[in-house]
Formats: sequence, C-alpha cells, structure tokens
Amino acid sequence: TFVAIVPAGGAGTRLWPLSRRSHPKFLIDMTGAGRTLIQATADRLEPLVDDLIVVTGSAHAEAVAEQLGIDREDLVIEPSPRGTMPAIGLVAAIVEQRYGADAVVGSFAADHVITDAAAFQGAVRRAIDAAQEGLVVTVGITPTGPDTGFGYIRQGTETSVDGVFGVEEFLEKPDLATAAAYVESGEYTWNAGMFIAKAGVLLDALARYKPDLAAGLRSIAARWDGPDRGEAMSAWDSLEISVIDRAIAEPLAAEGGVATVPVSMGWSDIGGYDSLAAHLVDPESGISRGGARQSVMVSESEGSVVYAHDRPIVIHGIPGAVVVDSGDVILVTTREASSGLSGVVTGLTGDL
Ligand code: GDD
Ligand code: MG
Repeated sequence: TFVAIVPAGGAGTRLWPLSRRSHPKFLIDMTGAGRTLIQATADRLEPLVDDLIVVTGSAHAEAVAEQLGIDREDLVIEPSPRGTMPAIGLVAAIVEQRYGADAVVGSFAADHVITDAAAFQGAVRRAIDAAQEGLVVTVGITPTGPDTGFGYIRQGTETSVDGVFGVEEFLEKPDLATAAAYVESGEYTWNAGMFIAKAGVLLDALARYKPDLAAGLRSIAARWDGPDRGEAMSAWDSLEISVIDRAIAEPLAAEGGVATVPVSMGWSDIGGYDSLAAHLVDPESGISRGGARQSVMVSESEGSVVYAHDRPIVIHGIPGAVVVDSGDVILVTTREASSGLSGVVTGLTGDL
C-alpha cells in the first residue's frame, strides 16, 4: 500500500499579489499549464498511489476539495497551522490505523513545479523500495547556488536498492556561509521536501525524538474514523509546533536512518518571481509571462517577468523587471529585489 500525503498550508508572501492569504499559490495555475499547483501534484502522483490525503486548513478546504474533485470529509483539516510535522504526522498516523504500520506513506509539497513527471515517478518508485527496508527516504536535487531556504543532504554510499544512497548528514536551512561551503564541496544535494517511509517507521522515529507529539497524533488518529473526530481534534492546539525536517530528518540522519534518491526532474520550489521566471518563458515571445493572455510588450527589458490580468502591459528600459497585475493590485519590482518582497507586504493589513 502506498498513500501520498499532500500538506497544503502557508501564505507564500514572496509571490504576492498572486498568492494571497485567502488564495495561496497551491490553488493557482502559476505556470500557465492549465492546472493549479495542487492539481498538478495530484496528477503526477496518480499512477503511483492507492490513496492520496491532503492536509490543509479550514480556510482552503473547500477550494482544495473542489479542485481535486474529492469530498471535504476525505481531507484532513487542521484547526490551526502547527507546521509540517503535526500535519504530515497526523496523516501518517491515520494511514497506520487504516492500513497498518507497514503501509508506505510519501509526503509531497502541494506547491512545487516538476517538469519531468516520469523522472519523478521513477525516483518515487525507488524510494518506496528503500522505504520497505525501514528507511526514511528523501529526494535530492543538484543545487544551483547557496540557497538558505532548503534542507541540505550529504549523500553517502549506495544502499541495497539501486539509485538510493545513505544520508550522512541532513541540515535544514543552513546559514549562508554553511550553504556556500556545502555547495562548493559538491557533496550535498537539496532536499526536495519529500519524505517516503513506512507509516510505523516515521511515527516510531518521532516517538523517540518527540514522544508527546507522536502519542498525541496517534491518539487523534485512533478516533479519526469514528464518531468523535471533532472531539479528538480538540487536542490539536496543544501539539508542539515543528517541521518534519528538524523533528525527524536531522536527528534520524545522524543515526543512519535516512536515505536519498538523487534525481534530475526539472524541480522547482517556486519560492519567488526570480525562480518562477524560468518556468514561464513563452516560446513565441521569449518573455517570461503568466496570467491572462493579454497583450504584453517588453522592450529593452531583458529577463523581465510579467503577469497580465485584463489590460495590456508595456515595460520599457527596465531589464529584470517584475510587473504583476492581479486585478486588484499592481506590483512593480525587479527580479533582484523581489526576494525582499515578504518583508514589505507582511506590513499590509487585510487579505495581504
Ligand atoms: N497542512 C499544512 N500545515 N501544510 C503546511 C504547513 C502547515 O502548518 N506548513 C507548511 N505546509 C506545506 C506547504 O504548503 C508545502 O506544501 C509543504 O508543507 C512544505 O512547507 P514549506 O513551508 O513550503 O517548507 P519549506 O519550503 O520552507 O522547506 C521544505 O521544503 C524545501 C523544498 O522546497 C523543507 O522540506 C526543506 O528541507 C526543503 O528543501
Ligand atoms: Mg516550500
């Protein structure tokens, strides 16, 4: 049995004003492919899974259910965000209840772009094989720079499963100097934010590092499919806020319990407009553009990113410009400056 877990939460202020508190990027067709990011995530998992369970907040439950064509009842809805560990851990505990501790779960972010679905599926198949051996398996991406927004994986020797390697160190979001040294060494990959393991293995590891959290999650899961699901969830707000990378991947890697599948699959965690640019290049115009097919004219502004809504946009003489029209808001910045956007817009009130 293989069950995919898709955690969908977070505000994504670096892609404001397209991504809003009320309408985060996983609900948006960011690339212009005709599918939203969460729909594309479900599409590429479809050939692999026996079941797919999304865990999200109540604010987005309706939209997620509608976009994926599933019942609201079949989502795991968290009363408040407490980070990826409680979210993923609860679904793993529900899977353990329903299918047994040996069922394999895989957690996949709702908001990534992957252009080579076949390579992704091949990597996940190898990861499932290694998970059967009792490992927690990650997916590794060749780094393109010292980005401090990722987990870093030091790859060891190959395991008994072809293409799956041991992990000697896992470090979540290092400081810039460490990230630069790691990239320079050539020994590290970026964690793609995917974790594949037997449900029981994942929860038993958590039980060693955070016993209260593991026990809390298992006790909610024990009542999940019964009449008092709502009452069981009243314990949610007392669970420790944490992320899976720090709660499990870091300490378990130090004990030799983590493995990784390096893969090249056109992966991007489209964190901001700068990294989105490569996925938006319109072959006809050569411009990085998304949004409505409104007329857009870009001159002497190489490498610009533009999102049109319902009126034409003209950019002249601003290389690397970012111009985004979301209908109610116009953003003007540059690709270079756009990484600092979060700090600017978090000061805005209302629906950001
Ligand atoms: N339901 C729920 N609740 N989902 C959440 C929550 C939460 O509280 N917090 C985050 N998520 C979802 C996000 O929507 C996303 O799909 C996924 O969990 C990962 O969370 P992020 O907040 O985007 O994590 P990150 O980007 O900082 O770091 C992770 O991903 C990187 C790759 O993109 C880590 O796994 C890094 O190690 C990794 O390199
Ligand atoms: Mg992310």
